[in-house]
Amino acid sequence: MDAAGVSAIVTGGASGLGAATAQALAAAGAKVTILDRDGNGAVAVANAIGGLGLGCNVADPEAVAVALDEARSAHGPCGVAINCAGIAPARRIVGSDGAMPLEDFQQVVQVNLIGTFNVMRLAAAEMAGRAPNPDGERGVIVNTASIAAFEGQVGQSAYAASKGAVAALTLPAAREFANIGVRVLAIAPGLFATPLLRGMPQDVQDSLAATLPFPKRFGRPEEFASLVMHMIGNPVLNGEIVRLDSALRMQPR
Ligand SMILES: NC(=O)c1ccc[n+]([C@@H]2O[C@H](COP(=O)([O-])OP(=O)(O)OC[C@H]3O[C@@H](n4cnc5c(N)ncnc54)[C@H](O)[C@@H]3O)[C@@H](O)[C@H]2O)c1
Repeated sequence: MDAAGVSAIVTGGASGLGAATAQALAAAGAKVTILDRDGNGAVAVANAIGGLGLGCNVADPEAVAVALDEARSAHGPCGVAINCAGIAPARRIVGSDGAMPLEDFQQVVQVNLIGTFNVMRLAAAEMAGRAPNPDGERGVIVNTASIAAFEGQVGQSAYAASKGAVAALTLPAAREFANIGVRVLAIAPGLFATPLLRGMPQDVQDSLAATLPFPKRFGRPEEFASLVMHMIGNPVLNGEIVRLDSALRMQPR
């Protein structure tokens, strides 16, 4: 699908991978709406690319429905939806202070899994009403998993479970949406230089980077965005989870 002129939603677009994706989409001529819980950040990134920025919790069904209505009024029905909103708190299932509070697990699943599904279901419903392109395509959805979906480390049980579920959603959603011409893909990033990683102490960052086979550096957000743009443009790429990780296989801790 050609991104030019298409109404595109990017969640988590106020920062990191989502911000780089919003920029790449705008550079390709898409009409971009950023949904982020950080409303000011969403507006700042959107203003810089001529898009629309909206404060929105992706896990809230009403808030996302209202945000998508606003995006549709401004840019037309959604043709591209990129889910980058996510949180990654680390906590052991049983720590020195006892069992993990259930709310901690629920919170991660709520944002990473329910939030992704929430945006996907509403965006796909809009895409179904769009006119197809000559290939029969009406839309493309890209969700962000993580290599923790496959090699979660100690302390990542909630995060890994949420991202594993995002990965598992890819094929059934792609199969279901085949009849409306909507492709569904996921990216499983390894280590990317975003505020999430850059907030760690330098020695931790250095030891993490040393675990990367090649290249021995964190991925750049624009390299994630570049894969998103390829996924949008390549009509036979569907139902797949693509690792983007310098061949990293994470160790238990
Ligand atoms: N950076 C990495 O190395 C890495 C690796 C694997 C997966 N990921 C995944 O990539 C995605 C983007 O991560 P990032 O590194 O750019 O992080 P980031 O913290 O820079 O950006 C995440 C954005 O999501 C927003 N957000 C969080 N909860 C939200 C909610 N409930 N509703 C709306 N917006 C919300 C935040 O405000 C923030 O702007 C996340 O899903 C993350 O799990 C990142």
